[in-house]
Amino acid sequence: MSKIKFTIITLFPEALRPYLNCSMLYKAQDRGVIAIDYLNLRDFGLGPHKSVDDTPYGGGDGMLLRCEPVFAAIESVKNASPDAEVILPTPVGITWNQSLARQFAGIDTPAQTAAEVASLSVSAGKAQNRLEDHSELLGRTKSQESINTKVLAENAQKQPENCLERHFIILCPHYEGYDERILSIVDHKISLGHYVLTGGELAALIIIDSVTRLLPNVLGGEHSAAVESFSAGNNLEYPQYTKPFDFRGQKVPEILLSGNHAAIAKWRAEHSGHSRG
Ligand code: ADE
Repeated sequence: MSKIKFTIITLFPEALRPYLNCSMLYKAQDRGVIAIDYLNLRDFGLGPHKSVDDTPYGGGDGMLLRCEPVFAAIESVKNASPDAEVILPTPVGITWNQSLARQFAGIDTPAQTAAEVASLSVSAGKAQNRLEDHSELLGRTKSQESINTKVLAENAQKQPENCLERHFIILCPHYEGYDERILSIVDHKISLGHYVLTGGELAALIIIDSVTRLLPNVLGGEHSAAVESFSAGNNLEYPQYTKPFDFRGQKVPEILLSGNHAAIAKWRAEHSGHSRG
């Protein structure tokens, strides 16, 4: 059985398949590490036109994803897989990072997860500021957004001890937004950052990619997971070099040729974990 199953609910499965069927993600599926299913939201649409969206009450621009098709699609998955966790990519979610990827991959124990959650609440001020910024971006209220950090904490604590064989349903909204009542069926609201995309598909790809590469038998995942745990999820890597030694005057640091493993490890530790942008 796969370690993680992802069911992606989307209007555009054709936008996702090419990426997910390439390279490491293809191998991960081929090796049975992950399984990916696509559900076309249109199949759950209403009326002869299979409509999935409508205009907002109170007026305003754009169309909103309706509740009925979304609930029908999610319930159709949950009927067979009641413990599946629903992820909603949204700019007002908690910001995706390596710690969350590790948690979703089932690498961190619940205790470690609780520590992450604690550190999230320590930085609640910062998180709240981010959410408020997002709210401004989308014209939402502060009280709506303060739910996000709480939902993450509650769901993290609910997670089973044995995190293997998890099933995530990723709902990809499109159009201008979604009916707020959809949040009642969502376990994890995830934002990629402080900007607005046209839909959730890119977020779904990033979540699946960053979680899958951590799983055993994908990228030598056991090794990278162990290395990353040293850096408490802050795993920006140290600079690496291959041949030639001298490329147009840019030379490889001599220490890396020294054969002194302790000195190399020290150099790498000193040069990792921070942005080199
Ligand atoms: N959908 C639209 N914008 C998004 C973002 N920044 N992160 C996740 N999902 C989104």
